[in-house]
Amino acid sequence: MEKIFIKPLKRPYSLWIYRNEIDSPLENFNSGSIVTVYERKTNRLIGTGYINPKSVISIRLLSFKDEKIDEKFFKNSILKSLKYREEFLKFKDTYRLVFSESDFLPGLIIDRYEKCFVIQILTSGMEQFRDLIIKTLEEIFKPEMIILKNDTPSRLKEGLPIEKKIIKGEEKSLPLLIKEADAKFMINPLQGQKTGFFLDQRENRLFLKELITNGFGLDLFSYVGSWSIHLAKKGNKLIGVDNSDRAIEIAMENARINNVSENCKFIKADVFDFIKWEIKKGRKYDFIIVDPPAFVKSRTEKNDGIKGYFTLNSLVLKLLKKGGILATSSCSQHISQEEFQDIINEAFIKNRKKGILIHKGTQSKDHPILLHMPETAYLKCFVLRVFD
Ligand SMILES: C[S@@+](CC[C@H](N)C(=O)[O-])C[C@H]1O[C@@H](n2cnc3c(N)ncnc32)[C@H](O)[C@@H]1O
Repeated sequence: MEKIFIKPLKRPYSLWIYRNEIDSPLENFNSGSIVTVYERKTNRLIGTGYINPKSVISIRLLSFKDEKIDEKFFKNSILKSLKYREEFLKFKDTYRLVFSESDFLPGLIIDRYEKCFVIQILTSGMEQFRDLIIKTLEEIFKPEMIILKNDTPSRLKEGLPIEKKIIKGEEKSLPLLIKEADAKFMINPLQGQKTGFFLDQRENRLFLKELITNGFGLDLFSYVGSWSIHLAKKGNKLIGVDNSDRAIEIAMENARINNVSENCKFIKADVFDFIKWEIKKGRKYDFIIVDPPAFVKSRTEKNDGIKGYFTLNSLVLKLLKKGGILATSSCSQHISQEEFQDIINEAFIKNRKKGILIHKGTQSKDHPILLHMPETAYLKCFVLRVFD
């Protein structure tokens, strides 16, 4: 293992070491090499990680020790992640098993859908361990199906190809049928967004489900209808809107298998156009769920993204009845919870509305947040009661 030296760290226990923090000639290192990191001044060991000299985040740590990154390392790491989800959180069958930095495995995501495991590898440093990761999953879980869903655009920046393939099992087993609380969902990891399902909103969906009964609402950016189905099972009627044909098809199928087709309608449309039509028609709803894709994907997009969230939420507020419920989310990692609260506050002020913040949710607990790395927190979900 090669040694690399760094300047005194500004953020202890962060797993990211930036290019300007390194005090060794980066050009001497090959992309993906495993390095042991030392602080130059004190010769103190910082940890073991992989290097990408071309990336601004040049080192991602895998351990705070001088440790061999081998089969035993991956087995122990995955077993630790499993123990946290199943023994500590009491999550069963379907959950995010590995969440990258948050599980000290930067660049690796593994979602478990019962007997099917979906792997996403985000960095070249992690890509070299792909066969080892698959072997480790085989050993621990003996899965029926393993899918590689390597389609995140960040892979291109790392010089990695985009690929989606079944490593184990057969395509005819898709779509999968999974459970969340008392609802069933059909998902297709190969064709769907992310690894097939937005597991990160689970706790927020279940919170809202307990809050609202017999109302008429909108599920904006509905994807496969996960919020709609839970709420429809509580006697609510909903219209879900998404611009993806495939998502709408699966959402309708999900409504059917949960026997709530009567209560759920899904429309393929651009949400912004839909809202404007509804405002024109003077429609009002008891509750509205707003769960858009990330508007801010990099720091440079931040100002435009803030405007996007403000415009969207300002428009949505025009469609809510007095005393109505707004469940609004942002999954942009570059927008903090405080910033999101300010944006929503501005949208309320613009509409001369007041609100009670009933729930300030974040990502589900199987997507842990590292105290020392605020970057691992990305999801905000605010549930508000709206007054004139
Ligand atoms: C974060 S996902 C929604 C997740 C979903 N609410 C859930 O919990 O399963 C965002 C969704 O917005 C859809 N989408 C993106 N831009 C859109 C637009 N302008 N109008 C309608 N849908 C859009 C995508 O197809 C995607 O399904």
